[in-house]
Amino acid sequence: GSEKIAIAIDGPAAAGKSTVAKKVAEHLSYIYIDTGAMYRALTYYAIKEKLDLTSEKQIIDLLFTITIKLIQGEKGQNIFVNDQDVTQMIRSQEVTNHVSIVAQHPLVRAEMVHRQKALAVKRGVVMDGRDIGTHVIPDAEVKIFLVASALKRAERRQKENEANGIASNLEKLKMEIEQRDQLDSEREASPLVKAKDAVEIDTTTLTIDEVVHHILNVVEQVRS
Ligand code: CDP
Ligand code: CDP
Repeated sequence: GSEKIAIAIDGPAAAGKSTVAKKVAEHLSYIYIDTGAMYRALTYYAIKEKLDLTSEKQIIDLLFTITIKLIQGEKGQNIFVNDQDVTQMIRSQEVTNHVSIVAQHPLVRAEMVHRQKALAVKRGVVMDGRDIGTHVIPDAEVKIFLVASALKRAERRQKENEANGIASNLEKLKMEIEQRDQLDSEREASPLVKAKDAVEIDTTTLTIDEVVHHILNVVEQVRS
């Protein structure tokens, strides 16, 4: 069949979710939705407003007063808070190191999940995050769970940093990734966990194209 479906891609930090999700979406002419960017945008704004990131009340109040928009631009997806383009700022080390604290709050998660569900009702979407297959689109036709060794994931981030002219310490990157994974996995509300019906792919020794190919095969099987 050719009816549009929803594809949920979850997994820990730097497993390759967004890179692969974008390519799968292009291939199928689907919309790609980066839910991590939404948590990052909220975190960026909370830091900018000098809020107490551990205060659920302060963070949820902020979330209800801002609009977060994902807009498809020529060079990929741009993210806006109110009308400010925050695409670059949300990738900063400061945001990266605080986002899992902001994303822990149950009320914040409930509101994010609510907004993300609305983006998936029409299908034709590839959505990546931590809880897409378990909470956001539990009835997704295809669920993928990407994993890779922590060392490999740190190496990938280091390479990315290098490409941007930033030197980084591999051990430190690995530790930060593991800390974030731990916070994401151990929180009460919609934690990082593999959905029972997800297909797990270990990308440690796979190229991006190999992972994309594997996912497109799963999609083909489901649609036929
Ligand atoms: O790309 P990277 O793996 O560094 O992270 P991301 O996908 O941009 O997500 C950043 C953070 O947002 C994660 O570490 C989680 O704390 C949070 N997040 C979440 O809680 N739920 C999601 N569906 C997506 C992201
Ligand atoms: O979204 P997530 O944090 O899971 O990972 P990503 O940002 O898509 O990927 C992290 C880095 O790993 C990117 O620079 C990708 O190009 C790279 N990557 C890779 O080298 N091999 C793969 N099979 C997947 C991703």
